[in-house]
Parts: sequence; C-alpha cells; structure tokens
Amino acid sequence: MTEETQLGPADFIYPLFVRPGKGIRKPIPSMPGQFQLSIDELTIEVEKTVKLGIPAVILFGIPDKKDACGSDNFDPDGIVPTAIRAVKETSPEIVVVSDMCFCEYTDHGHCGVINTRGEEHFNPAVPEGYLLNDPTLELLGRASVVHARAGADIIAPSGMLDGMVNAIRTALDGESFDHVAIMSYAAKYSSGFYGPFREAAESAPGFGDRSQYQMDPGNVREAIKEIELDVNEGADILMVKPAMPYLDVISAARDRFNQPIAAYQVSGEFSMIHAAAANGWLDLERCALESLRGIKRAGADMILTYFAPDAVKWLGG
Ligand code: PBG
Repeated sequence: MTEETQLGPADFIYPLFVRPGKGIRKPIPSMPGQFQLSIDELTIEVEKTVKLGIPAVILFGIPDKKDACGSDNFDPDGIVPTAIRAVKETSPEIVVVSDMCFCEYTDHGHCGVINTRGEEHFNPAVPEGYLLNDPTLELLGRASVVHARAGADIIAPSGMLDGMVNAIRTALDGESFDHVAIMSYAAKYSSGFYGPFREAAESAPGFGDRSQYQMDPGNVREAIKEIELDVNEGADILMVKPAMPYLDVISAARDRFNQPIAAYQVSGEFSMIHAAAANGWLDLERCALESLRGIKRAGADMILTYFAPDAVKWLGG
C-alpha cells in the first residue's frame, strides 16, 4: 500500500536478436538465457512474451552479409523487415520497436557511412575514417520507411546522429506513415557496458570507437541538450542509455520533458548481475528486480531489459 514504485509486465520492452536460417536458437555466451534466433524461433519467443503481458519487443538483426553502407537494413527482404512481417502475422497485438542503426549491417561496424577514399560519399574536407552524418541520414530515412512498411510500430534510431529524428519523421510522413512513432535513443553514452551486445549482434567496430557520435559519461547538461534537440525534431519517446550508471540523467529527463522516458538496461548491466550470481556473490532475482525498481524510481516510464520475461515470472506473473 505504501510502496511508491511498482514494477509490472507493462513496464518492459524485451530486446530480441534475429538472424537468417531455420530452427536456430544460438546461445549468446556473454548473456545467459539470451539467443540469436531464426525467424521461426523468434515468433515462438514473441508469443511467449505476449502471454506474459509484456507489451513490446525491440528487434536487432544479424544479417548474412554486411557491406560498407549496411544495405540489408533497407532491403525489404532484409532480416529485420522479414522478421517484423512474420511477428506481426503470428502476434499482431505485440508492439514492434525496430532498432534503427547501421552498426549491425556494416562491414566496418560503425553506425553509418564512413568517409573512405574512392567511395561514393567521400568528402576530402572530412578526415578519413569519420562517420558522415548527412549521407547516413538519407539512408536512415529510407530504412525506416522499409521497416514501417513491414509493420514496425515504433522506429528507434540508436546511432546518435545529428538530425536523425527529423530525417526519419520526414521520410515516414512522406510515405503516409504518420502513425508510426519514434523512440529516440536521445541520450546515449559512449559506454563500456555495451560489450556483450557487440558479441550478441556481431557489431563491434572494426576500428576506432563510437565516441565521435556517442556522449561523454561525465556530461548531464549535454544530455538535456541532446534530448531537447530530439524533442524539437518530433521524438515521441525519449531514451536514456545505459540505465543504472545514468539514473540522474533519467531523473533530469523526467523532470524536464513531458514525453514518456524509456531507459535501456544494457547488455553489460544484465551480464554483470548474472556473472556475480553465477559466482554466488549476488542473488540473481533480488538484484535484477532491485536494479529495475531503481530505474523506474529514477523516472523511467518503460525499461528495455533482457530480464523482461524472468522479471515477470519473479513478480509472480
Ligand atoms: C546500436 C545499438 C547498440 C546497443 C543498442 N543499439 C550498440 C552500441 O551502440 O554500441 C547496445 C545495447 C546493449 O548493450 O544491450 N547502435
């Protein structure tokens, strides 16, 4: 009766990894209980998610072929568009969030087009190896329309590019997808906690890191500025990522903005609780639920978490 913060299935968005093939359920060693799934297995997992009362999933694709511009992401027969159609067929009630980034699809593992001598978008004024913001925006718009056409309810741009929300909103509206929402990874930090995800999505950058376009962990005022930019461009839901090391950022975002705030409890946050529990140092259930409650208490309206199905079970669902 006096508990101020309550957790329930409706708070969660469950991240799932999808790859080509059939009958594949390939364990991700650094993320206990998480798998790379082929589409047939994915639809089964989504059906279970629906039964638990979890309203949404977010999909990450691992394509067969990667190239310089990540073309699988805007191919209507690419892995994620195909997966979205299948999921919407078997579980029409689930909200499908589509992670919109190029790092899973490019052979260099960066989140967009890289300035490379001899390639189409090469710009001699920009250092070689830099991410080219504006040519990437055009591709993000194209890919978002393809995902929306496949049935995505929410597009979630995660690359922290300048102008990404506006580019995607304009592209979607131009094709009559006004009803598709944008959940922006608005304040995404350059974090060590993404380590296990890069194994899960096979998306570690081939050179350098992502600090050109992700945020400095020491900054909170900059996060507010980044979020404000996305709000002005039309973001419907604002995300802070990672979650636990950035609870103050979640809280500041909650105070300032009226849009729903999402927090991403990332792979490293999940894996470290599991690793400690496997060593007998922490109680898995207790610490996982405590971490989720803390994120909600800080102000998150929804939490992207790999614990989603387990948490519902632990909560008695
Ligand atoms: C793609 C993306 C990443 C994550 C979500 N979307 C990787 C990254 O930015 O390096 C990480 C999620 C996690 O660690 O669970 N840009």
